[in-house]
Amino acid sequence: MTSIAIIGGTGPQGRGLAYRLTLAGHQVILGSRSADRAEAAAAELAKRLTEPIRVSGSDNATAAQKGDMVLVAVPFDGYRELLVGLEPAIGDKIVITCVNPIEFDKRGPIGIQVPEGSAAEIAAELLPRARVTSAFHHLSAVNLWANADFSGEDVLVCGDDKDAKAQVQELATAVVGKPGIDAGPLRIARHLEPFTAVLININKRYKVHSGVSIRGLDRGTGH
Ligand SMILES: NC(=O)c1ccc[n+]([C@@H]2O[C@H](COP(=O)([O-])OP(=O)(O)OC[C@H]3O[C@@H](n4cnc5c(N)ncnc54)[C@H](OP(=O)(O)O)[C@@H]3O)[C@@H](O)[C@H]2O)c1
Repeated sequence: MTSIAIIGGTGPQGRGLAYRLTLAGHQVILGSRSADRAEAAAAELAKRLTEPIRVSGSDNATAAQKGDMVLVAVPFDGYRELLVGLEPAIGDKIVITCVNPIEFDKRGPIGIQVPEGSAAEIAAELLPRARVTSAFHHLSAVNLWANADFSGEDVLVCGDDKDAKAQVQELATAVVGKPGIDAGPLRIARHLEPFTAVLININKRYKVHSGVSIRGLDRGTGH
């Protein structure tokens, strides 16, 4: 059992990941800019759990202090400022960012050009003591909150710290039933994050909540 602080845990993605992680036996602390909102979100989630003790809510900094790992699930706008403020609370913990820098115009979603390369690399710069990984970019929040079957989807994980990446790959089992796939070093996040714009376009055209599945791996020996 791992305790995971979810920064931005009041939003659909944080709440959906929290639901799946708690179902799998992990402890979750939902974080918010407002402790009241976090507590309300935790109470809502607790109603769906047979073991409501696994979820609590607090302000983002307190959540980051409490969690063994810190999962960041906030919009790209305001992300840098948020991380700077949380650095003392996060320290040298494992950080997972699922942030997708995407903007929308009249033609639909498109990846934002990030000078640092990706949201994950921004986290590595702003949280120099933390072990930053990038994962969970392609799981639909709607499907997470619903009891949708994720067994046909993969979680792609990247990061520069081998041990942190391995722990996050293992954590992915809680959500998709198998370990996440090692997609390479942290800089690969610049390819994972904007790919979500492709999924959003597919979702719109086919009226689905699409995901990612990698073929060709020997799952018996690959992990
Ligand atoms: N939605 C999806 O299906 C999906 C799938 C994969 C990845 N993602 C990524 O996951 C992240 C979260 O997605 P979401 O749909 O849950 O987003 P969201 O609802 O827009 O935001 C999540 C939470 O972030 C907090 N927040 C909003 N603006 C903030 C700011 N300027 N500074 C600090 N906190 C702020 C809010 O919580 P408080 O107001 O309570 O602080 C909000 O509830 C995004 O980066 C998104 O690209 C989303």
